[in-house]
Amino acid sequence: MTTQSIDLFSNEFHQNPYHYYQTIRPHHSFAKVNFVSGGQSSWMAFTYETAEAVLKDDRFIKDMRTVFPNDITNENLPPIAQSMLFADPPNHRRLRSLVQSGFTPKKIESFRERIKEIAEEQAELMSKKDTIEFIEDYAFPIPIRVICELIGVPVEDQEKFQRWSHAIVDIGDAEQYEQIMSEFIQYLDQLIQQKKEFPKNDLLSDLIKAEEQGDRLTTKELHGIIMLMIVAGHETTVNLISNGLLALLTHPSQLELLKKEPSLYKQAVEEILRYNGPVEFSTDRWANEDFLFEGQQVKKGDHVIVSLASAGHDPNVFANADEFQIKREQSPHLAFGKGIHYCLGAPLARLEGEVALQTLFEKFPDVRLATDLKYLQWRESFIIRGLKSFPVWLK
Ligand code: HEM
Repeated sequence: MTTQSIDLFSNEFHQNPYHYYQTIRPHHSFAKVNFVSGGQSSWMAFTYETAEAVLKDDRFIKDMRTVFPNDITNENLPPIAQSMLFADPPNHRRLRSLVQSGFTPKKIESFRERIKEIAEEQAELMSKKDTIEFIEDYAFPIPIRVICELIGVPVEDQEKFQRWSHAIVDIGDAEQYEQIMSEFIQYLDQLIQQKKEFPKNDLLSDLIKAEEQGDRLTTKELHGIIMLMIVAGHETTVNLISNGLLALLTHPSQLELLKKEPSLYKQAVEEILRYNGPVEFSTDRWANEDFLFEGQQVKKGDHVIVSLASAGHDPNVFANADEFQIKREQSPHLAFGKGIHYCLGAPLARLEGEVALQTLFEKFPDVRLATDLKYLQWRESFIIRGLKSFPVWLK
């Protein structure tokens, strides 16, 4: 076995990760990878079949407390690491079941009109300008406003969430991170107190009821769930909307198809998720025993991640995998993961993507790039695939 090198923190990798996957995937479905700048070595799955197998295999677990009982305790884990995304059954089931009923496709579909209103308001705000910064002016505010409304965060506080959410995803300076987290928790405690006194029809009020029933949810877990929703709601869908606009603007024939046949928006969103989805890698998994996987010796405590982006471009599953084709019929992409951690917010994200893009093209049919493609820069984030900035002409 040879260890592959990948500089996940480099600009070069983020400018075109699909090129890297094309070269590595035919030779390595599951390989030990050395993250150059991070100095860490991990297993990574590159083919669709292996990616799916890792996500469904319960020997790869999520809770670090099980794998490293002497090093990791409740006290030294941040709240988000105690959320469902980092839990295994039966704990995972308990945490997920507390919020699951709020995210069924039927329940989410009932927000369609409200999401449309929010998208139209954002479009109206931009309509006085000729050029806009698409992420800041449109792609970002829509999911923030939607998730904050669902949770029950007052409108006037929604901007603060942007800073907190970025801090959780792009971990920079440790001291600054601690300070931002403590501000966030302090704010959450105040909000929880308010909801206890004046419960409303929102997710946070429902969760507080569960917390008050005692054994169902601890305060730290409650913080963890809210943080996870905030991060998931802020950092992902924004890039579904903006990566989607970019894919459509750079594939004019596909955009024409969509304009002629608006019923294709749903399928277009699936293709955007596959072609250039917002989540590049799965979150961390850990081997919970020594075993042979794909002929390779995995050891207890080994770190494992899945390249969802590489799986989505696997030619064994997707014909002409590197082409953007909104009419693709079979698209079992892994952009929302697979198995028990399959994205809880998938119906919401899909609906937001569909409504945001459709509203944009209805209001501004001539929207186009306001810079040369070569100047667009991708964020050097470990998990998220999204542009740093995206200037567009509206008219
Ligand atoms: C989990 C992707 C939007 C909530 C996940 C996972 C992926 C993902 C890949 C699984 C990670 C893993 O197994 O390691 C996405 C994408 C989105 C999106 C691509 C947007 C296009 C959202 C939204 C919410 C959300 C809007 C809002 C509630 C969650 C939660 C989990 C999750 C709670 C954890 C589920 C569990 O552990 O059981 N998401 N997500 N996501 N996502 Fe999303």
